[in-house]
Amino acid sequence: MNLELSEEQLAVRDAAREFAKSELLPGVIDRDETQTFPAEQIKKLGELGFMGMMVSPEYGGSGMDTVSYVLAMEELSKIDASASVCVSVNNSLVCWGIDKFGSEEQKQKYLVPLASGQKIGAFCLSEPEAGSDATSQRTTAIDKGDHYLLNGTKNWITNGNSASYHIVIAQTDVEKGHKGINAFIVEKDWEGFMVGAKENKMGIRGSDTHTIMFQDVKVPKENRIGEDGFGFKFAMKVLSGGRIGIASQALGIASGAYELALAYSQERKAFGKEISKHQAIAFKLADMATDIEAARLLCLKAAYQKDAGENFDQASAMAKLFASTAAMKHTVEAVQIHGGYGFVKEYHVERLMRDAKITQIYEGTSEVQKIVISRNVLKA
Ligand code: CAA
Repeated sequence: MNLELSEEQLAVRDAAREFAKSELLPGVIDRDETQTFPAEQIKKLGELGFMGMMVSPEYGGSGMDTVSYVLAMEELSKIDASASVCVSVNNSLVCWGIDKFGSEEQKQKYLVPLASGQKIGAFCLSEPEAGSDATSQRTTAIDKGDHYLLNGTKNWITNGNSASYHIVIAQTDVEKGHKGINAFIVEKDWEGFMVGAKENKMGIRGSDTHTIMFQDVKVPKENRIGEDGFGFKFAMKVLSGGRIGIASQALGIASGAYELALAYSQERKAFGKEISKHQAIAFKLADMATDIEAARLLCLKAAYQKDAGENFDQASAMAKLFASTAAMKHTVEAVQIHGGYGFVKEYHVERLMRDAKITQIYEGTSEVQKIVISRNVLKA
């Protein structure tokens, strides 16, 4: 693993940092308060090539590597985790999934608009009774010859209303267990596709999270991804990549809070000196800096393995577990360092603290990451 970033990778990081400061920071508090999806900002991110970062230009993407994606996700998430989760789902779960496993027709029809930022994608796996236990799908897709008939309900779907194309995981043959699960590309405009109420969330309040319902939605056969029965493995594979995105989001939330706490502690005086000069605060900053560096290295390791074509399941689970734990712990500490100011919205750290929590839940809870890691460790 090369620890030195290339000029190209540094340029991507700097562009994301600049965008976050100039386009995401103004209005981020208001969007959080009013639960407003950053539609304009996502459109601009698409125009700049951030919505299909790892897709080749042939299919509308930017042809970048996963390392660049990690760097961009960290910078965007320092400022606005609601925008960055939209970027992550579109890049990792939707674009990468179609790019890696979709047919040529699916790539032309769906990947090109998704990777170029003209359309947004969503990934519909979770159900009321199938969160961590992803094989327990209740949504069904019954084979009707030239199409499947899709029925069921999906919960907590990121980009639920803003997405035009949804990858939907459904059971096609209950008898076959996980081998009877398939993944389909479903268009929002199709008859029987219904978007439920928006969730009123604790964090990432600007992101667009909805229940999605399907009632006799006709899905053409050619919209199934891969061979019959490939859906569960497809979901596991794209979630493994997705975890690199969410780990990087957690890293960004932690480093955003750290940077704010560092600056504040060097300005704010108490007991005759800057609070950073009190060991109680300086040690907190040391712990934050150490965990953030470790989280960054884990994210980059998973990205390097993915770019090298190696198995990255364990690395991505480790990165997500460690980075999300660090994000939760250190955003709480950032609020503490800010004292009373940390508790008010203008100082940003309370939002980062609320945003951090979801990184321990979505794309696999911390417990799911431990299942993946322990199975890999025990297999080794
Ligand atoms: N790659 C390829 N195949 C894989 C795989 C991987 N990474 N992981 C598992 N598989 C295969 C296994 O080899 C097995 O196949 P065989 O029977 O042919 O050997 C099959 O899949 C079943 O695997 P398991 O027995 O390991 O399955 P399990 O039921 O024990 O589940 C789990 C394991 C890790 C807990 C899994 O269910 C899981 O990851 N759950 C969490 C799901 C999740 O992340 N949900 C988040 C929703 S999406 C979201 O949050 C998006 C958003 O909006 C932000």
